[in-house]
Amino acid sequence: MSESTTFDFGPVPSGWLWGAATAAHQIEGGNTNSDWWAFEHQEGSPAKESSGDACDSWHRWRDDLELVREMGLDSYRMSIEWARIEPAEAEFSLAALEHYRIILATAQEMGLKTSVTFHHFTTPQWMALQDGWMNAEIVDRFARYVDIAVQHLGDHIDLAATINEPNVVAGMGYQHGGFAPGIAAGDVGLRAATENFVGAHLKAREVLKAGPGDFPVGLTLALPDQVTHPDGTLDGPGFRWDELTPGTPEAERMRMWAGVYLEAAQDDDYVGVQTYTTEHLDAAGNLLPVPEETRVTQMGWRFEPEALGRSVRHAHAVAQVPVIVTEIGIATMNDDERIEYYSRSLTSLRQAMDDGVEVRGFYAWSLLDNFEWAEGYRPTFGLAAVDPVTFDRALKPSGRWLAEVAWSSRS
Ligand code: NOJ
Repeated sequence: MSESTTFDFGPVPSGWLWGAATAAHQIEGGNTNSDWWAFEHQEGSPAKESSGDACDSWHRWRDDLELVREMGLDSYRMSIEWARIEPAEAEFSLAALEHYRIILATAQEMGLKTSVTFHHFTTPQWMALQDGWMNAEIVDRFARYVDIAVQHLGDHIDLAATINEPNVVAGMGYQHGGFAPGIAAGDVGLRAATENFVGAHLKAREVLKAGPGDFPVGLTLALPDQVTHPDGTLDGPGFRWDELTPGTPEAERMRMWAGVYLEAAQDDDYVGVQTYTTEHLDAAGNLLPVPEETRVTQMGWRFEPEALGRSVRHAHAVAQVPVIVTEIGIATMNDDERIEYYSRSLTSLRQAMDDGVEVRGFYAWSLLDNFEWAEGYRPTFGLAAVDPVTFDRALKPSGRWLAEVAWSSRS
């Protein structure tokens, strides 16, 4: 018997969403007005290659929707690109808005629930040149863009996320500089960006609630299952989340990483959890070296599918709102390994649900093999492969496997 017929997630609660996720910059191609495009092309960039044509989803979005339908999933999560909708400050592109409106309307006509993220890592270059998320003016500017976007698109949105993984962008983009816009401002950068992200989320949530359409609003967070070793060695004691002593530098780091966002989510309709691994860190948040014999993915991340259950429990305990797993997946060339990863993650999720965590859906990352940010095209997270020359999509066995899991959970 193949693995595909052996996994049973059990029945899902009503309203549950099985979905697959993408993000504009990672699949559209030619996103030239964004800070990521500039970052990819700057001399000595930490980005290994340019996003270029990506999966050409700007033109081939129908193929993407067809894949989701072919799998029989309920929902497609995508993002809309601020840099295309507002290519220059206060200049809005009706053509870009119309492009997204047609995609969302088509998805709904196909019976799919649309899940829209308004900011997924990329910021217009004109804003990045004014210090991006370190500049407090971004809060109003982001809200203005969200307002214009929702006026055009709101009737075709079934679920919204204001900002995807602001905690990653604040750390990577403004503290360390390893992601666009490449600002390494240390603690100052981290604090300013974090504050503005929280402010922007709250304001955008208000705008979305006031606009056309009636859909749940939340934000999505990178929530690896983190274990902090205050004495800086793997062999020393390790502490998760609330096992940390309040007031210590490691507890403060954890608060800036996730706590402030989970608290901001307390008045949201849901919190989006995105967990890819377990991380072992020192008190300052530096990753401890992964021992050689450890099983890792193409990203070099520990293979830890059960991390999902732990993160979901934590997010629910702090935010006290329903959880949606808005992303989970693995970069691997071995598709059987992907199936193993998803089945074990789902098992840990089911256990959390059985213990009372309210979970409303599960989105696989990603629908397609795509542009994995600074790592380029080498890591393959997709349920479908994309031919780099013809851009043809081909569902992998893991995509068919997820289709069966979704189907059997409803019958
Ligand atoms: C989370 C991000 O939202 C997504 O863009 C990225 O590709 C995955 N993590 C994998 O690293």
